[in-house]
Amino acid sequence: MTIAQAIQYALSLGLERLDAQLLVLHALGRSNRERAWLLAHGDDAMPATALAQLQAQAARRAAGEPLSYITGHKEFYGLTLQVDARVLDPRADTETLVDWALEVLDAPTIAAPDVVAEPTALAAPTSATPASAPTLIDLGTGSGAIALAIKHSRPLFQVHALDFSNDALAVASANARRLALDVQFHQGSWLQGLDQQFSVIVSNPPYIAAQDEHLAALTHEPLQALASGDDGLDDIRTIIGQAHVHLLPGGWLLLEHGYDQAATVRTLLQSAGFTQVQSRLDLAGIERCSGGQWLGRALIND
Ligand SMILES: C[S@@+](CC[C@H](N)C(=O)[O-])C[C@H]1O[C@@H](n2cnc3c(N)ncnc32)[C@H](O)[C@@H]1O
Repeated sequence: MTIAQAIQYALSLGLERLDAQLLVLHALGRSNRERAWLLAHGDDAMPATALAQLQAQAARRAAGEPLSYITGHKEFYGLTLQVDARVLDPRADTETLVDWALEVLDAPTIAAPDVVAEPTALAAPTSATPASAPTLIDLGTGSGAIALAIKHSRPLFQVHALDFSNDALAVASANARRLALDVQFHQGSWLQGLDQQFSVIVSNPPYIAAQDEHLAALTHEPLQALASGDDGLDDIRTIIGQAHVHLLPGGWLLLEHGYDQAATVRTLLQSAGFTQVQSRLDLAGIERCSGGQWLGRALIND
């Protein structure tokens, strides 16, 4: 069988062309950036071992397993993350949340951490990170995608990442080590027990309703990364309820949520006392993230 025929074979199982090409490249031990190479070598013979690997992996993809679990990696915000079934497969839509977090972190409207934050044993800033640098925590970090993208984009910021799952933290901290990014990891349930304040709290929490029909198509990913109570908003309610205690005056809480949850999340943020409440669109033009600013007593009294 030639390489072109191997791609046709994967397509015949129902795979999208991009996935078919990436699996053929993976089976050949080539980078996912070499799709042009495939076109130039369509008539080359597919080695038997590579073909056997492709057949097994194309069947897994056809059964709904994320491509990233099969190849073991995923591109996110220009970083190559190692991922497996212990963590959510990072989605391109989540890059909207990273863009927004960088935007508010760069704005000079948030109090400096060394003015307001209590000293904490949780995270000792490295010598390269000034004590007054903006601080961010990524709640429910999974593979570390959001936290690592932000630390990579702004190396001087203090970046923390938290997850309930020790399995997820193992994946995230391995990614941080491999990418040489200095992120402080914490195990815990949302902000409970943390005694630190941040410039920005960002989270892509579980937000699918427990009975939602879409869950059936996501059986390969950890349920605790996806489902959140009867209406999908249990974790978002918890985070909004806890966040103000952990935000510096002028700090922002930014949340990813479901395609139909923006209006409800904005109402929850406004009811909790956040200002400048607004939403951002994902790549498909859907309101995918909502957030607001916590002015805090110090600024309100000014
Ligand atoms: C939707 S995934 C997001 C993963 C990653 N941030 C991303 O965007 O790809 C939600 C994450 O929240 C974590 N999580 C669920 N419940 C949690 C809790 N009570 N406290 C902290 N993390 C939790 C899950 O383990 C999972 O890693």
